[in-house]
Amino acid sequence: MSIELIDRVKHLIEEIKNSKPGTREELEAFRLRFLGAKNELKPLMGEIRNIPDELKKQFGQFVNEAKLAAEAVFEAVKEKVEQAADEAAIQQIDLTAPGEPMPLGSRHPIATTHMNRIVEIFSRIGFTVAEEREIEDDWHNFTAMNTPEDHPARDMQDTYYLKNSTEMLLRTHTSSVQARVMTAQKPPIRIIAPGRVYRNETISARSHCQFHQVEGLYIDEGVSFADLKQTLLYFAKEMYGVNSRIRLRPSFFPFTEPSAEMDVSCFLCGGSGCRICKYTGWVEILGCGMVDPQVLENCGIDSSRYSGYAFGMGIERQAMLLHQITDIRLFFENDVRFLNQFRAAF
Ligand code: PHE
Repeated sequence: MSIELIDRVKHLIEEIKNSKPGTREELEAFRLRFLGAKNELKPLMGEIRNIPDELKKQFGQFVNEAKLAAEAVFEAVKEKVEQAADEAAIQQIDLTAPGEPMPLGSRHPIATTHMNRIVEIFSRIGFTVAEEREIEDDWHNFTAMNTPEDHPARDMQDTYYLKNSTEMLLRTHTSSVQARVMTAQKPPIRIIAPGRVYRNETISARSHCQFHQVEGLYIDEGVSFADLKQTLLYFAKEMYGVNSRIRLRPSFFPFTEPSAEMDVSCFLCGGSGCRICKYTGWVEILGCGMVDPQVLENCGIDSSRYSGYAFGMGIERQAMLLHQITDIRLFFENDVRFLNQFRAAF
């Protein structure tokens, strides 16, 4: 009985020493059989109580030898087997497979695209881009632009002033760029100024506390209202189609005199009347006028020699009408489900 048990252990030792697990699966089977929680050596060790005392020690040594042999085999082949498995996995990678498509980022598909188009249209007739600071001082945003101290636009309600400041603010319009350029350059001046502006408005579907404007300014000798009108007509035709018409309505801005608001014939119905133009045939696009001589003087330009025109337009509102977007907040939420719909808009 005990001889038989000893023989079994000896056979196991032989078997262990001769085994060559070559794959991950074979190695795992080997581990379970000889080293795992339910390995074959454990029940053999339990048999020690059936071994006569004088052989117990020898039997124990054999079982232990079997265990050490199993550990030695396992350690010896483990690394080789893992390496072979990794190599096999690499072999399975198809290097000729086409790559995963990676979505490209883009400019804001509506606001920036629309703004860039406007800038491009004016660049073609000699306007150069002027970009200026968004954090402005009171003088460039208001005083130079002929906006008196008690003007409601200066109110804390409408303007974001910097903390503890009555002087520094977030520009409320791109007209501040007019003052920047006129104080830094000599006429002739012909600039187009795109950028972001801020107003302390309650955020709703129709208004936001930030939006974009494009400002235009032209100063030279003998610039007239006719030049303004022709330039704006050119713009309307380039932007909204060759059949577009414009109309100028008298208006008021502190920094232009006379001032006007420009409508373009509705780009959806062509002027016959529809939902977009509220059945008027016209869509309001921008404010404009002849630069007030006082503004020229404020900026150090001789108003007896030079005259000029300026215009300014909001971007989001135009883009909303064009794409029939009913909520301005969508522009600033960066929801790709919204943005993706306009990727190929232009
Ligand atoms: N700055 C004006 C506004 O924000 C627009 C404007 C610009 C009007 C230039 C006239 C001339 O509404």
